[in-house]
Amino acid sequence: MHREITKGVYYVGVDDHHTELFENLWSLPFGVSYNSYLIVDEKIAVVEGVKGPWTEEWLNNIREIVDPSKIDYIIVNHMEPDHTSSLPEFAKIAPNATMVYTPKASPMQKSFYDVPLKEMIVEDLEELKLGSKTLKFVHAPFLHWPETMMTYIVEDEILLSCDAFGSFGALNGKHFDDEFDLRLVEKESRRYVSAIITSYFKFVQRALAKVTELGIGIKVIAPSHGPIYRNNPMWIVGKYNEWTSPELEKYCTIVYGTMYGYSHRLAIKLKKELLELGVEVKLHNVSYSDMSAIITDSVRASVLVVGTPTYDAYPYPKVWSFVNEVQGKRFPVDTVALFGTFGWGGGGVKKLQKMFTDMKKEILEPIIRVKARASEEESQQIKELAKTIAGRIK
Ligand code: FEO
Repeated sequence: MHREITKGVYYVGVDDHHTELFENLWSLPFGVSYNSYLIVDEKIAVVEGVKGPWTEEWLNNIREIVDPSKIDYIIVNHMEPDHTSSLPEFAKIAPNATMVYTPKASPMQKSFYDVPLKEMIVEDLEELKLGSKTLKFVHAPFLHWPETMMTYIVEDEILLSCDAFGSFGALNGKHFDDEFDLRLVEKESRRYVSAIITSYFKFVQRALAKVTELGIGIKVIAPSHGPIYRNNPMWIVGKYNEWTSPELEKYCTIVYGTMYGYSHRLAIKLKKELLELGVEVKLHNVSYSDMSAIITDSVRASVLVVGTPTYDAYPYPKVWSFVNEVQGKRFPVDTVALFGTFGWGGGGVKKLQKMFTDMKKEILEPIIRVKARASEEESQQIKELAKTIAGRIK
């Protein structure tokens, strides 16, 4: 199903309710949309494709408006296959179309698909006239791959922003911000940003600054996932600005694993002490919380506390996996605290200590290592740690 955004500009994307994990990692309880936009003028352009299995549905949406074989340009804002794995099939249907993308996208396209279409490589801020409408291409590297760009429809002041300002969640026949409950959109957008874009926060900030410096009017923001913002595009800009700000937020997040409840008891005790000291606490048991929710709640915490049992002389596997995300996604968090339990060896906390030291994070004292159940003295250490954390946050 298509939807008109303004005269000559249409949404022709698709919903995906089938994929359970985005990038085979991040849960999609409400699905996801692959947005695509058709611009009909003297020349016809389509901006973004869709994920391969949804190609026919996408082409049918286009067929409601024009014959896809008549498309002159396919604008590839981003090469990630959730937007481009439809390219090989598209090339068969529209063999006269020209692919438009950045210099870095060209070799990527060849290595992924090597489709037999002409290509037009566009520099930053280059323009393409379609007739009465002009497309301006704004390079936005690392949003979230190095080749990414946004496409701006000059006369309509519509920014087709690619992954930036996107969200998890299928559209289900609604398309615009004024048709959604923005509380759910906010939740799913923030989870999307945290799961997908955490490593690239500074590039979001750069792209925001660049769009501001260009001084272009923006009536509509149309991202590649999630709702189109026509009522209040600055709402999502403000949210992205806040979520990717280098400033940390004033709360403590405790992320812990537990097998038989000993680490769990330490986590709960620490949470209780922190709450009594007036500190806001977010708590996640790695066995029950979704990893994207854990990341969302911890990426900008003033203090991140990690607790683990020792498992085969290492941290508990799901805790270890989380700490790898902290490292791989280059969390801006700079202060951590550690606690853990063990039966006989106790390598779990020691290995976490080494990992966070290598990441150049400050580790607060005391580091708590408890053999089985906590003694009175170790319980006192929890109180001491809570006071240190509270001191940092306040
Ligand atoms: Fe929606 Fe980075 O692809």
